[in-house]
Amino acid sequence: MSATVVVGGFWGDEGKGKIIAHLAYSDKPRIIVRGGVGPNAGHTVEFNGKKYGVRMLPSGFVYSDARLLIGAGVLVNPSVLIEEIRSLRVEERVGVDFRCAIIESKHIEADKTSAHLSEKIGSTGTGCGPANADRVLRVAKQARDVAELQPFLTDVPLEINSAIDEGDLVLVEGTQGFALSLYYGSYPYVTSKDTSASQMLADVGIGPTKVEDVIVVFKTFPTRVGAGPFPTEMSQEEAERLGIIEFGTVTGRRRRIGWWDGKLARYSAMVNGATQIAITGIDKLDKECYGVKEWEKLTPKAKEFVERVEDDTRVPVTLVSTGPSIEQIIDLREEKL
Ligand code: GTP
Ligand code: IMP
Ligand code: MG
Repeated sequence: MSATVVVGGFWGDEGKGKIIAHLAYSDKPRIIVRGGVGPNAGHTVEFNGKKYGVRMLPSGFVYSDARLLIGAGVLVNPSVLIEEIRSLRVEERVGVDFRCAIIESKHIEADKTSAHLSEKIGSTGTGCGPANADRVLRVAKQARDVAELQPFLTDVPLEINSAIDEGDLVLVEGTQGFALSLYYGSYPYVTSKDTSASQMLADVGIGPTKVEDVIVVFKTFPTRVGAGPFPTEMSQEEAERLGIIEFGTVTGRRRRIGWWDGKLARYSAMVNGATQIAITGIDKLDKECYGVKEWEKLTPKAKEFVERVEDDTRVPVTLVSTGPSIEQIIDLREEKL
């Protein structure tokens, strides 16, 4: 056993939360650890008829035997985190790396009042950009400086590397998406850090030699919130005609919708070093596929789409999500790997 990393392939909101929850349930990792920027992310998990939105904790929380960690690279907003820990009742199994940088109210204020960030870039207003700037300037607080985080502090790399060395599986949960990367995205319309698989590993403290699988998640119709180029964007009317309307988990903003972008998918799979691909929203491509759990029951249109994704990326599609709920998925890993 080793580590599996899950990252977004487009502009975030690909459904990583749903995919990670499925992997957590079926693969039973000892630890699920979050990398990525911070509480600008919003993962949605639908489980047992209930819908959960998490911004700080790993979406794999639904699997109750896993330890839930937050890597040193992640920005922590203590009040958001504490509220999630309480409402999900996971106090006993949460760990926060003592080196995480802290988002303070001044960062949120700066994010919201900066015309450059809030208007031009269309940031989430969660303080992530200004907090990462302070971190680079080496003036940000760390988790170890915050009283209410003391019970949760840990050394995340020590925990996860020990688990891997003992033969256990560690699931690394990325946030945002490849095209929002500070390095590889459509700069300046990007987030405040790289978002590729390598960054997620650095965030949590695992070397590349310990990773067996990189699963890149794509959605059938890519979405983008905030400003910036979107080469395959469709009009709102077209999206409505197709019955696709989505709103952001964190900001409530309406997501821009586009057509499948094979060129971007290929580049994203390349930089991420994808070994597997997960496709979400196959039911948005063809309503008849909603809730289907077997490959044979997918429509020809859906199967052709999956084959096209494999042609575009040259990576096997091993997970096909057919609805928002955790059990609405076709898991092809045994057949394809
Ligand atoms: P970030 O970390 O913020 O990038 O989010 P994310 O990748 O976890 O995705 P998010 O939960 O923000 O958005 C995905 C949306 O699609 C959620 O509302 C999910 O419930 C929903 N979803 C996930 N998979 C499917 C699917 O296969 N079909 C449909 N119809 N919806 C899905
Ligand atoms: P920031 O990360 O809040 O600075 O926002 C910068 C850009 O990244 C904006 O276009 C945001 O909409 C986008 N963004 C940041 N996090 C997410 C996410 O989790 N999902 C989708 N878009 C995001
Ligand atoms: Mg989201």
